[in-house]
Amino acid sequence: MKILWPIALLVFLFVAAPVQSEQEEMKVPDEVTFPARLGDVHFSHIDHANWVPDCTTCHHTGAYPKCSSCHGVREDARRKTDAFHMQCKGCHQEVGLSTACADCHIR
Ligand code: HEC
Ligand code: HEC
Ligand code: HEC
Ligand code: HEC
Repeated sequence: MKILWPIALLVFLFVAAPVQSEQEEMKVPDEVTFPARLGDVHFSHIDHANWVPDCTTCHHTGAYPKCSSCHGVREDARRKTDAFHMQCKGCHQEVGLSTACADCHIR
């Protein structure tokens, strides 16, 4: 049995290493600011990640590129502003928060 340990360790290193570097590459932001004429929107990503337990509720494709890598670019995806308004306001409505413009757009 003893002879198997170095092999097990090697297998572990090969399997674990790519997973770790994938997480390191992915820079999860604390806050994201969206510039807007009505007032910039300050989105606390760190708070939302605590309030909303499942990342894929928002990152609905199960991956983590910018929303604007599809919305506003791909013809099969709705416009960027519509996508954000639908997701942000949709959830806020569901949890009973106000969706007045000034709740998000701060001058
Ligand atoms: C729950 C948060 C939220 C609320 C409430 C909200 N917005 Fe937004 N809005 C956003 C976010 C996030 C963006 C950034 C998306 C983008 O860059 O297009 C945005 C972008 C916009 C834009 C496009 C950016 C620009 O200035 O060109 C307009 C116009 C806009 N909002 C108008 C409104 C109006 C009018 C209301 C109220 C009826 C409103 N929003 C309410 C979050 C919100
Ligand atoms: C309430 C919605 C929401 C939740 C929950 C959420 N995110 Fe996000 N996340 C966003 C938004 C919105 C952005 C900004 C995207 C943009 O700028 O287009 C973002 C940005 C990111 C980015 C940066 C993308 C880039 O290239 O700039 C990463 C990485 C990310 N999120 C990972 C996660 C992970 C991991 C979780 C779970 C722990 C999570 N997110 C939970 C909404 C959310
Ligand atoms: C890889 C491409 C891609 C990425 C990244 C992406 N989306 Fe989408 N999204 C789509 C496509 C395609 C649809 C289906 C067409 C539509 O409804 O716009 C969709 C649908 C939606 C819808 C409508 C969902 C419904 O219930 O009908 C919302 C809202 C949305 N996306 C918001 C976002 C937000 C916010 C982000 C970033 C956190 C994001 N999307 C990231 C491609 C993408
Ligand atoms: C899936 C649900 C969900 C989505 C999607 C979501 N939120 Fe929220 N948001 C919440 C909850 C829950 C709270 C309030 C938590 C509390 O006060 O207890 C909140 C609070 C806020 C607040 C007030 C507190 C603060 O951080 O200043 C702002 C502003 C806000 N959200 C902006 C946004 C924007 C902008 C988006 C879209 C990019 C968004 N939210 C998407 C669930 C969501």
